[in-house]
Amino acid sequence: MLTLLPMLATAQSDNLWLNFKTMQEPYVFYLTSKNPTFDVIKKEILSVVPNFYTAKKMEQASFVVLDNSQNSAIQGDGFMINADEKNVKIEAKTSAGALYGVYEFLRRRKNGETVIKNFVSNPAFQIRILNHWDNPDGSVERGYAGKSIWFQDGKINFRSDIETYARANASVGINATVIDNVNADPKILSSQMLQGVKTVADRLRPYNIKVYLAVNFSSPAALGGLKTSDPLDKDVIDWWTKKVKEIYTLIPNFGGFLVKANSEGLPGPMDFGRTHADGANMLAKALKPYGGIVMWRAFVYNPQGGDRAKQAYDEFMPLDGKFDDNVIIQIKNGPVDFQPREPFSPLFGAMKNTQIMAELQITQEYLGYSDHLCYLATMWKEFLDYPTYHNGKTVKETTLNQKLTAFSAVANTGNMKNWCGYVMAQSNWYAFGRLAWNPDLTSQQIAKEWINLTLTNDEDAVKKISSIMLRSREAVVDYMTPLGLHHLMGWSDHWGPEPWCAIPGAREDWMPRYYHKAAADGLGFNRSSTGSNAVEQYQEPLKSMFNDPKLCPKEFVLWFHHLPWDYTFDNGNTLWDELVYHYDKGVKEVEAFQNVWATLKGKVSDPVFNEVTEKLKVQLDEAQWWRDGCLLYFQTFSKMDIPFKTKYTFEECKAKLRTKSYIERQKD
Ligand code: GCU
Repeated sequence: MLTLLPMLATAQSDNLWLNFKTMQEPYVFYLTSKNPTFDVIKKEILSVVPNFYTAKKMEQASFVVLDNSQNSAIQGDGFMINADEKNVKIEAKTSAGALYGVYEFLRRRKNGETVIKNFVSNPAFQIRILNHWDNPDGSVERGYAGKSIWFQDGKINFRSDIETYARANASVGINATVIDNVNADPKILSSQMLQGVKTVADRLRPYNIKVYLAVNFSSPAALGGLKTSDPLDKDVIDWWTKKVKEIYTLIPNFGGFLVKANSEGLPGPMDFGRTHADGANMLAKALKPYGGIVMWRAFVYNPQGGDRAKQAYDEFMPLDGKFDDNVIIQIKNGPVDFQPREPFSPLFGAMKNTQIMAELQITQEYLGYSDHLCYLATMWKEFLDYPTYHNGKTVKETTLNQKLTAFSAVANTGNMKNWCGYVMAQSNWYAFGRLAWNPDLTSQQIAKEWINLTLTNDEDAVKKISSIMLRSREAVVDYMTPLGLHHLMGWSDHWGPEPWCAIPGAREDWMPRYYHKAAADGLGFNRSSTGSNAVEQYQEPLKSMFNDPKLCPKEFVLWFHHLPWDYTFDNGNTLWDELVYHYDKGVKEVEAFQNVWATLKGKVSDPVFNEVTEKLKVQLDEAQWWRDGCLLYFQTFSKMDIPFKTKYTFEECKAKLRTKSYIERQKD
């Protein structure tokens, strides 16, 4: 008897958001250039236009795509679209711009727009880049969608449908990718591996996507057999110079290196008494003749530092102005680590003579893996639009106002058929690309576009799904880490709540108690002027605002302050009341999402309906677990009442954490 394959359950979303609409109008085509990017353009258009003819001259055509526009409104890889039912003109100054224009046109057609007049769009950030944390052995660090899309058994072996990846990226303007983990294996630079990397670069080039590599700073010693990897050593410099030449011989449009150095045990220039600038500039000089760049990460901390949130600033500020012009410092959005909510990293408001870029995380390491619906555009907009008070600018303006500009995010892809492990998680990949192209888009606009392209055009359904998406991140913050709490998650796998975690002998700054500081006298990390004084790293008026619990935005209050359990907020609630309220509100939101989703049967495809229904059940259960685990643990200090019956007991919360380990989950 025939049985339905479970694979069908996600069938619709395997194609990501690339579900363009067939156009019935007959068109006469004229494409200005013949090159691999125009081959892609042709293929994309022809796949949705069944009736077409080709014109010899532009004047005879009704569908024109050109890459030699003289229009001064178009910049870089930007484009202009003019279209009605009968005529379409997409113009750009580069083939990549023409490709982006075509995707914009196809998206707008699919979303019901027929008349487009003088629409110009230019990319905001120059480099719009995904960071894959994929390892040569095929595993993916913090990946929740299966194995690597690039590697298998120590070699490059990319997904056979990698073209879908390339199209998806190009369709939102992503033009760069780091294919290996920041915890880089020196092997990535072996000659054999580079041959494989070349095949990736060749496949992605027509889509205007450049390949970059994360490299291990001790590669000269570990791979090259040198005695040292000291960045000022002549042999080391020669080694990198030759290696870079080898790479560019194979991959002429290679982008450059991403480096995690002197961080979480990885080697770096400080092992040799040198600075981050010495290390970064040495690599930058090797790359410079070819136009390559170095993205040097500022994710650094060590257990001796006192307050982890302060360390990147302390380490990098003395080096402000010392980096070469093809170096850009890659800074995570928050000062700790991709938590559900953090204030922006103070480096964004402080570095004045150094090029800086943001690193976001699409993969949901701290946000319920690929099981929780958590639309991240709202979080990223909150970050981008935050005023740093550095020359009166927001984070977005600060990072855009430099010679070299870039915007990066850790990818959530894997070898599962639907790429991201959850159809709703695809929206975050989409949103990242759209914001990198245009950070002024609203979260609503992006959600609507994505829903139209991926799920449905039904207006009522779009409204409902979009409302769930827009509320989802706040719900996750509420049931995981409200009021500025952070780093309460399970040891090592970062799954589920474990504020009680106490691993004998483990680094204190990897323990939740380092961050929440729950005790009989209250809760929260005192980063005010009476504590670690992290507030000092922010410009005024933020500094004074964060420093005073009465002025500090409530969502950051326990990030910056240790408050007594009976501390009273302006609304009359005590800290404990607020905590209980937020934890429970997060759970209630997920229940509300379930109720709304239940009304969408028949409005989205059955596989999508079923997938989201099932995942929301998991999300609700885990939200209840987070709420109960955290409140029951904090209650052991506050001794105050929880005004409802929890679903789980404290013992059950602890036991649940180990029922399904990360490794087991990977196998699911
Ligand atoms: C987090 C994450 C690690 C990762 C690190 C990084 O700590 O848990 O897996 O390597 O960030 O960004 O370098």
